[in-house]
Amino acid sequence: MRLKKLKIGRTELPGNLLLAPMADVTNLAFRLLCRQYGADMTYTEMINVDALLNESRKSFIRGVSSPEDRPFGIQLVGSCPEKLREAALIVEEEYRPEVIDINMGCPAKCITGAGCGSALLNSPELIYEIISELTDALKTPVSAKIRLLGREEKTLEIARLIEKAGASALTVHGRTAAQMYSGSSNLIEIKAVKNELSIPVIANGDIRDEESAERTLELTGCDGLMIGRAAMGNPVIFRRIRYYLENGEKLEADKQSRQLEDFEKYVTLIEEHNLLSSINLRMHAHWFTRGLPGSRQVREKINGLTDGKAITELMRSSCQEKY
Ligand SMILES: Cc1cc2nc3c(=O)[nH]c(=O)nc-3n(C[C@H](O)[C@H](O)[C@H](O)COP(=O)(O)O)c2cc1C
Repeated sequence: MRLKKLKIGRTELPGNLLLAPMADVTNLAFRLLCRQYGADMTYTEMINVDALLNESRKSFIRGVSSPEDRPFGIQLVGSCPEKLREAALIVEEEYRPEVIDINMGCPAKCITGAGCGSALLNSPELIYEIISELTDALKTPVSAKIRLLGREEKTLEIARLIEKAGASALTVHGRTAAQMYSGSSNLIEIKAVKNELSIPVIANGDIRDEESAERTLELTGCDGLMIGRAAMGNPVIFRRIRYYLENGEKLEADKQSRQLEDFEKYVTLIEEHNLLSSINLRMHAHWFTRGLPGSRQVREKINGLTDGKAITELMRSSCQEKY
């Protein structure tokens, strides 16, 4: 199946491969890297509206995006329609994203305990209120990202309400919140949502390579694919999937050194955008060394380091020594 163009709100994307919002992963530097490899649209990590409204606003959202980070979506997590509106107006004014997405899928206790993320799926009326409030107040198109509800009719009810309230797109992760990440993404139920709505529906869950991307597009008939975990430490996945969908054949396997070269690019972007954080670098270093010979020793050494510069130097020297 060929790559399709995807239109979200006013924005026509050249393709339909999207980077999922992922907390602690999809910062500006990582999104820019995925973009270099052909991600058509990327989403920020979820931004908690209570934190945004309580903290010094400008400093809280500093470094969220930059002019070359286009097109992109900002994802908000919250449950109070008025606070979501207030926060959305702030990020709209500051960054002019192509879309503002509402997290209705996160199953983490710290999020659902506050009535946010997937907890919203138990309150269809509140979901309708939130999306209506935002679509009335914003110039920016609004989208939502949900999980399945366990019974197809319930999932379809929520999907219909989101569309009726004025959303421009809907992403569906084909698992229930109770499943967390167990089992596999239910493509049949994602397809049912796609068939029910007129707005673009984006399929998410378990797209990890060329074949799973093609299968997800074919089985769901969705307008776009959203890729999460498989992009961690592996931004080249966008190029590989894009090439396969366009040409029907795979690119040659990447050399192992690519992962470390990509980590170097990531570090350079982190430095350029003043986002240096040793915890974040350590996490990304783990993902970027996955599967490489000698990676265990490199990771052990990295774990002992707290200084961002030291981590990058260690990675650079391992890169030169080994590959
Ligand atoms: C580390 C991590 C952080 C995540 N953070 C978010 C988030 O901030 N917002 C969100 O909607 N989903 C979040 N997710 C869920 C992903 O966006 C995606 O729905 C899920 O991982 C399934 O897609 P995949 O199989 O391609 O990974 C996160 C997932 C992971 C693994």
